[in-house]
Amino acid sequence: MSKENRTILVTSALPYANGPIHIGHLVEYIQTDIWVRFQKLQGHDCRYVCADDAHGTPIMLRARQQGITPEALIADSSREHQADFADFNIDFDNYHSTHSDENRMFSGLIFERNQAAGHIATRTITQAYDAQENMFLPDRFIKGECPKCGAADQYGDNCEVCGSTYSPIELKNAVSAISGTTPVEKETEHLFFKLTDFEDMLKQWTRAGHLQAEVANKVEEWFNDGLQEWGISRDAPYFGFEIPGHPGKYFYVWMDAPIGYMASFQHLCDRTAGLDFERYWNRDATTELYHFIGKDIINFHALFWPAMLSGADFRTPTAIFAHGFLTVDGQKMSKSRGTFIKARTYLDHLNPEYLRYYFAAKLGSGVDDIDLNLEDFVARVNSDLVGKVVNIASRCAGFINKRFEGRLADTCSEPGLYQDFVSAGNDIAADYENRDFGHAIRKIMALADRANQYIDANKPWVLAKQEGEEQTVQAVCSVGLNLFRVLMTYLQPVLPAMAAEVESFLNIPAMTWNAIEAPLTGHSINSFKPLMTRVEEEKIDAMLEDSKDSLGSTAAAAETAATAPQVEPIAETISFEDFAKLDLRIARITRAAHVEGADKLLQLTLDIGGESRNVFAGIKSAYTPESLQGKLTVMVANLAPRKMRFGLSEGMVLAAGPGGSDLFILHPDDGAQPGMRVK
Ligand code: 2FM
Ligand code: ZN
Repeated sequence: MSKENRTILVTSALPYANGPIHIGHLVEYIQTDIWVRFQKLQGHDCRYVCADDAHGTPIMLRARQQGITPEALIADSSREHQADFADFNIDFDNYHSTHSDENRMFSGLIFERNQAAGHIATRTITQAYDAQENMFLPDRFIKGECPKCGAADQYGDNCEVCGSTYSPIELKNAVSAISGTTPVEKETEHLFFKLTDFEDMLKQWTRAGHLQAEVANKVEEWFNDGLQEWGISRDAPYFGFEIPGHPGKYFYVWMDAPIGYMASFQHLCDRTAGLDFERYWNRDATTELYHFIGKDIINFHALFWPAMLSGADFRTPTAIFAHGFLTVDGQKMSKSRGTFIKARTYLDHLNPEYLRYYFAAKLGSGVDDIDLNLEDFVARVNSDLVGKVVNIASRCAGFINKRFEGRLADTCSEPGLYQDFVSAGNDIAADYENRDFGHAIRKIMALADRANQYIDANKPWVLAKQEGEEQTVQAVCSVGLNLFRVLMTYLQPVLPAMAAEVESFLNIPAMTWNAIEAPLTGHSINSFKPLMTRVEEEKIDAMLEDSKDSLGSTAAAAETAATAPQVEPIAETISFEDFAKLDLRIARITRAAHVEGADKLLQLTLDIGGESRNVFAGIKSAYTPESLQGKLTVMVANLAPRKMRFGLSEGMVLAAGPGGSDLFILHPDDGAQPGMRVK
């Protein structure tokens, strides 16, 4: 344990309550959880809090679309998020919601203190308004042609084709993504946080070591562009908190989201004897406060948040730790490639500790993106964890259990080697502390290689057959298991579930960094059970298959406006010639059947006028095989055949609808004949 005893509060960014956790999110939660577990293993008082980010227009509209209240939507989401996190062994000390009494109280307090100090301005602005829906439109809910390059179907804040940013009022032929009507301009009064009042404070704060170097440089650019006042209010209807003293006006979701960190911590304090909120949040608190975030939300955390806190007489964070984005096989996660992998889909197929290990091996202290290369993932987990680490224990445990009744030797026969392993802990601890997890993993694996070399050199399996070598076998295997214990202590933050199994196998109390100073001698262990199995490639294929948006872009494009900000951006446009290449045919479903082992697929036999095709379609959530038999549908007849886990798929059926039970693939039986072209 390091000498001084630290008191630390850690947060991860709060996930929005209208979408599932996916592996991109998990980079951050796994990174934070490893760091927190490391601090706890060191003996520090470290608390980790989080919450669902429950407010805003997208959540309000999604609830409306599902015909439920926003409260019901966020309750479901919170349950699902917490189950996903728990199953990935993300160990929050508290998980709360921004839609909570604590958050309402702190949001009001922070606003009122800033207002009393003169940091809030009121101004009338002109905004796009949907007169049919009676609501002002957030930028992401207006679509039209880019004023710069003319690209169609662009959102109201920026163009995904030419990259320019603009105000929604500038969009040409704009339409509301909610009602499809043309927005009108309407005046409305809003509240602004005067970020400019904090320019000096922020310049000093952002240069004082609270940010990573590359983040501080980015912030410097924003100073050079000039700080702007920040709009913190939204008009009704809005799912959020009404602003005290301003009826009909609500706090913008990004105003109360970071305050959710405080709210979650207050909620924890209320249930924990001796945990004192003031000690962590007072202006002169000496406890440490860290926020782990993605690099896309730096402005909120490195500018608005410290300014708002400071204006309300609270402490500012000790540091903000930003990380990069996740790519899969070198590319952005994609629904059509099956790489937009939900946490739950991953868990349906693979051990969460594989991913924790792989991310740890890839993570550094900077904001570089990290790549999940699936081939490398299989190779690394199998060779490092199964081939190196677990192998040490499995090579030694059998001898100790069978020949020595589970008892380790009374002395350590390799004190020098053991001491080398213990001494390496200082550098490994420094790597963890600095979030250089990749470096830590490299050092731990180099030690694992040494442990295996030691066993190879001493060959207990040969000694075991020689007379008079009994004691040496016990000595060698005891050293092996002691080295294994040290390695597992170092890996505990990354592999908590496996570490817990090792604790019971080695018959030891919960691991701590301190406890490895002395080896286990004359100690009884329990029987050995396999600690981790190899990653099977078929499981990866199955996971990708389950993640595929097997409906193609038809269904994605048909998603309604309420989900607009969540829909994957429309891919590159194609020419009319490309479109004309599609051979769409009426097909009769002559047979439909379940596919063994597939959650979403049905197998269809399609007749397109004398020719029969086998197609796997992800429509099981909407149709039973019986309901399809004999009906007509439309298929893409000239799609290259695709080899799937279950067989060859020779085309695709067209579907529309938001998904789940709302999926439509049938063509009216209006005399259309199988094989007819549809255009
Ligand atoms: O970007 C996001 O997903 C936000 N929901 C993060 C909020 S972090 C904090 F400020 F609450
Ligand atoms: Zn453009």
